[in-house]
Amino acid sequence: MRLHIADHPLVAHKLTVLRDEGTDSPTFRRLADELVTLLAYEATRDVRTTDVAIRTPVAATTGTRLSSPKPLVVPILRAGLGMLDGMTRLLPTAEVGFLGLVRDEATLQATTYADRLPDDLSGRQCYVLDPMLATGGTLATAIRYLFDRGADDVTALCLLAAPEGVEALRDAVGDDDRVQVVTAAVDERLDERGYIVPGLGDAGDRLYGVV
Ligand code: URA
Repeated sequence: MRLHIADHPLVAHKLTVLRDEGTDSPTFRRLADELVTLLAYEATRDVRTTDVAIRTPVAATTGTRLSSPKPLVVPILRAGLGMLDGMTRLLPTAEVGFLGLVRDEATLQATTYADRLPDDLSGRQCYVLDPMLATGGTLATAIRYLFDRGADDVTALCLLAAPEGVEALRDAVGDDDRVQVVTAAVDERLDERGYIVPGLGDAGDRLYGVV
């Protein structure tokens, strides 16, 4: 597994405002959206392309276009939805599939409650959106799900990660370099409730309120 921490002053600035407990939901949503676009730029560095012949007003030249099959963006419901617009802004031609995974707060195990993905993901590059890589259980389940359907490689975009989650994911996927995690920061640790410390709290609640 490859881990990429987006080390950039704008990323650090936006993340700091997201962490602040005084940031309200509308501001949180807007900043999460902007941060995802910055992460998406890093995450798509290896997106597949093909050469294409074009004519500029001046001359013929060879350019670059995204290859087929199109990349698939997979937000993990519910909090991953808050990352979707920021991702598709950079990848407007990507298709979007949805995966609903819920974490049992007692066992911290992830189970699937919704699946709206193409049956066959052969040859597909997938971009999973999940804001918080905490225990790693949700992401490991999602990545397994996508590879079982034939996905070619999987990049997870997370606003924040815990070292425990990164390690758990490494244990789950081994040295498979078809898996990449791109995040704004790896924090100190997980607390006893499974929250990232210092983190930013419950990402779903901060995006959408406590429902
Ligand atoms: N999920 C969240 O929303 N926040 C955390 O800190 C951990 C998991």
